[in-house]
Amino acid sequence: MDRDAIRAAARLLEAGKLVGMPTETVYGLAADAGNPAAVAAIFAAKGRPSNHPVIVHVARDADLSRWAAEVPPEAQKLIAAFWPGPLTLILKRAPQVPAAVTGGQDSVGLRCPAHPVAQALLKEFRQGQGGLAAPSANRFGRVSPTTAQHVIDEFGAPGAGPVAAVLDGGPCDVGIESTIVDLTRLDTLGPALLRPGRISADQIEQLLGTSLALPDQAAPRVSGSLDAHYAPKTPVSLVAAAQVQRVIDALHAKGRRVALMRCESDAHDYAHALYASLRALDREGADLILVEQPPQEPAWQGVNDRLRRAAFDSAGVLDRLLA
Ligand code: TXA
Ligand code: MG
Repeated sequence: MDRDAIRAAARLLEAGKLVGMPTETVYGLAADAGNPAAVAAIFAAKGRPSNHPVIVHVARDADLSRWAAEVPPEAQKLIAAFWPGPLTLILKRAPQVPAAVTGGQDSVGLRCPAHPVAQALLKEFRQGQGGLAAPSANRFGRVSPTTAQHVIDEFGAPGAGPVAAVLDGGPCDVGIESTIVDLTRLDTLGPALLRPGRISADQIEQLLGTSLALPDQAAPRVSGSLDAHYAPKTPVSLVAAAQVQRVIDALHAKGRRVALMRCESDAHDYAHALYASLRALDREGADLILVEQPPQEPAWQGVNDRLRRAAFDSAGVLDRLLA
């Protein structure tokens, strides 16, 4: 780990600059969560609507009362079991949290990342007492980055564009974004799953001893829950395993170029490689990225969610290419 680079990045963040930060899920585009102008710069760089809330990342054992009005027992249980780790909790916000962070809502998303570089940065930044607002370091709607080079591909070289520095923590272990659980409506709805991820709904339900509600109309805005999200530029089509060869043959008969993503690994390995694979296939110049549909099993929930969103805007493309 490059201590000098981490110290330099912390000073840049304290000065209101943006830094690419590795986490165990995906790379984040970090800014001082206590500095509304710095948070606004994230939205400008991403091209993201400013009413979308961003997750605040905190150091291990951080004082959460700076961010959350209360930490209910359900949150304490989840924190004890899964932090640091790929789990984001939505809690009622403390009054001093900038509206730029919450998207003007009365809740805040908190996450304590496990990646050693992220933890070292959070300890160095404001002596471990600050918070780093960090959405995934991609342009709005695009595939999340899982390497430092992906961040540079999105925003340009450090210092030359909106990002002052990118810390290289290697390829992200998990590969898909954190699981998000909403604990702001425990009285009425109970805990709700806003975004599936590596920490499964099963694991959370077992720990809390209750089932998770699904996001409903009243759920807070989650850009990760927009239908079209995480999408490459090339259209994406999901096809059942048994149909893959037939579809490829039919596309080839029409002279179409197909990039194929097979499903040959377990869910964790697949998630780890998913975004890098989509980025690589996107560079092939194919007419279509054909994705072999993974199993519809709980372990695959996070992956299937991201694939469905990647394919959402491409509905009908396969039929047109075969017509
Ligand atoms: O794994 C992750 O969560 C990564 C890494 C960098 O930590 N971050 C990430 O951030 O995926 P982002 O902004 O791309 O997605 C975070 C999601 C968004 O959909 C946002 O709307 C939601 O979390 N979110 C943040 N704060 C929220 C809040 N107060 N209420 C509801 N949703 C919230
Ligand atoms: Mg994102």
